[in-house]
Formats: sequence, structure tokens, C-alpha cells
Amino acid sequence: MKTFARYAALIGATAIVALIAAFAILGSPTATAQNPPPPAAGSAPPAAPAPAPAAGSAAAANPAEPTTCYDGSPLPLGPAGAKLQWFERLRLCEVEDNKGGNFWMPKAVNLEADSTDQMYYAVLALSAFFFFAIAAAIVYLVVRFRHRPGHKAEPSPTHHDALEITWTIIPTIICVFLFYYGWRTYIKVVTPPTKAVEVNVIASQWHWSFIHQGGAREENHLHVPVDTDVRLVMTSRDVLHAFYAPVMRVKQDIIPRRYTYAWFRATKPGTYRLTCAEYCGTDHSIMSLNKDTGDRAVVVVHKRGDYEKYLAAIQDVGGDITAEMGAKIAQKKGCRACHTIDGSGSTGPTWAKSWGTQVPTDEAGPVTVDENYIRESILTPTKLTHSGFGKGQMPSFEGQLKETEIAALIEFIKSLK
Ligand code: CUA
Repeated sequence: MKTFARYAALIGATAIVALIAAFAILGSPTATAQNPPPPAAGSAPPAAPAPAPAAGSAAAANPAEPTTCYDGSPLPLGPAGAKLQWFERLRLCEVEDNKGGNFWMPKAVNLEADSTDQMYYAVLALSAFFFFAIAAAIVYLVVRFRHRPGHKAEPSPTHHDALEITWTIIPTIICVFLFYYGWRTYIKVVTPPTKAVEVNVIASQWHWSFIHQGGAREENHLHVPVDTDVRLVMTSRDVLHAFYAPVMRVKQDIIPRRYTYAWFRATKPGTYRLTCAEYCGTDHSIMSLNKDTGDRAVVVVHKRGDYEKYLAAIQDVGGDITAEMGAKIAQKKGCRACHTIDGSGSTGPTWAKSWGTQVPTDEAGPVTVDENYIRESILTPTKLTHSGFGKGQMPSFEGQLKETEIAALIEFIKSLK
């Protein structure tokens, strides 16, 4: 027991000293460094995409549109007889995950992927080193001290302080530094930048919907700009799913009845695999590839300028997650009877300038007005009541609003900044 306490103290002290050293040498882990300066003028993410040059056929003749995949191979034509737009053909390009990857990993296309990979290789190298070192020691000792006729067993030492301290301190320091780097990477991965191109992701059995800023909507193919932070706001219409883009090293569960986030900053244009990484029922695999139709879920990273062209081209396809749609829903569902949008008082709190602020609640103190709080207030309003407004005044809209309608209401409230 005394020995145990001594080594526990030794490990604890080493860990604390190593952690302080890590902070002193490497700085404290923070998420701020991942907000790199915005790309040069002209390539800024489009808040409101320019209107389509002309709908449909006219756009197809535009010479500025890509004529090859981003890896230089010819743009596939798609199934015979199908008239596909350039961006639809772009997502039919061969996925590039394995071009340039290695035995352990597909290639990395995300700014933050490098630190994830470094962690992986560091742990792999350490494990390999200690595995072979220990195995070699075992083989050597077994041979060296094997039983032979004429040899008598000698009493062996039961304790050696210097040895024990060495093999306590060294692994502790290694573990603390692994922890430090893991922590630093984790903080960056789970903290999406606030300034980013935002895409709403709605997963369902067995399908992806992506709704871009401005309302453009696409199914099963996520189109994003290169060299730009992309923030995904994700929810599910039914069961658990998970967004997984291997080249981005991004994997995030998608949970019904709440929003989860993921982000990345793609570094190379191309067409990449996208898959669902949470078993979600019979046709889970269709969320990666539908063998019947040949439709593959992909992330298409557009080169500079092409994302704007893409958004303009699909504007007409239309989705409903816009502030304008949210305003209509707020009117139709009667929200506006209690919530003003000009900051004046009413039965419920005003929506004006509420987005992103902290509001006091009766149940849990101050909370931030974000996607999840608004969603919860709509569906289960009694859970966190805005202080000063009567509990139960607000009825639940459970079952009365579609996912897209809730998202549109959120867009509307956001727009009242
Ligand atoms: Cu969705 Cu598995």
C-alpha cells in the first residue's frame, strides 16, 4: 500500500510538471487560431449569391463552366439520354479519396486534418516502438536465462528504485504530451468558426438533404467552396445518423430533435466520398452508395468561383430554409401574436436582436439563443422559460412544424440581428 501511494504521488507529480511544461512551451490550447484570415477579396463566401445568369439551357452553354473533373479527367456524361448540368456531372467524377492516400489513411483535404493525422501516426509509431522493444526483450531474456542442466536458479532482486522511477516517469510524460496534443486538436475540431459558409444538413432514412444559404437545396451531394470555412448545422428527421467525410477527417453524429455541428476548410477541389457512419436501419449503406440507381453521396469541393456559379444555377430548384419563408411561417403559425420583431414588449420575448445573445431563464440561468435553444423553445417551451415571461404561456408546436419550417424560423430570427 505504501509503495502504491509512493508511485501514485510520483505519477501525479510528473503529470502536473509535464502539463505545466507543455503549456509553457506550446501555449494553452485554444480554438481561436482556427479562424484564419478570410480569403483574398473576390473569393469571399457568398452571403447572397448573384442571380442566375439565365435558367436551365442557357447556363449549360456558358464557356466558363468546368469541362473536366477537378483532377483533370474528362467530365462524365452520366446515364444515356439524361441531360445533366455541369455540376451534376461533376459529382459523377470518380471519388479521389484513394488518389494520394496511403495504407493507413485516405488523402487529407481539410486544414485541420493534418493535426488529426499527426496524432494518429505518433500513437502508431509509439505503439510499434514499444511493441517491438518489449517483444525483443522477452525473447532475449527467455533465451539468456533459460533453464540449463547444471545451472542453479539465483535469487532475483524484487525491487529497484531507479528502474521503477524511470519507467514511471517516461511513460507519464509521453501520455501527458499525447493528451495535450489530443486536447488541442479536439478543441479545434469541435469549435466551428463563427464566420463560415453555412449549410443545413437534414439526414433521414436513407437520404441526405443539403440546404445552402439563400435556400438552394440539393439531395445527396454536398457542394462546398475551396479554402473557405464551411459550417454544417445538422439534424435528423428520424433516427441517429452520422456525417462522415473521410478526406476531411470529420465524423459527427446527427441526432433527431437537436442540432449538431461539424466544420472543415477544404484545401483541394475535387469529388470525395461522403457516408453515413451510424447504422440507421436496413438501407444504411444507401447513404453512401445506392447500387440500384448508382447514385453516390459525395462532397464536391469547388474551385474558386465555381461554388457561386453552382448556387446561382440551382437557385430555381428551390428549398425553403430562408428568412423570407421563416417570416411567412411565423405569420401563418401565429408566432407573431406574441413575439414582436421590432424590439417592443409583448406576451413573449421579442425576436429583434435576440440571435446570439444570452437570455435569463427560470430553470438554468443564462442561455445563449442559438439553433438548439430556439428549437427547444418551439417544441418544449416549458423546459427553459425566458425569465419574466409566464411559464406555459407558449404552447408547444410539437408535431406541427416540419424540420425545414423550424430551420426557416431560425433563419428568420437570425436575420433580425
Ligand atoms: Cu444514416 Cu446510417
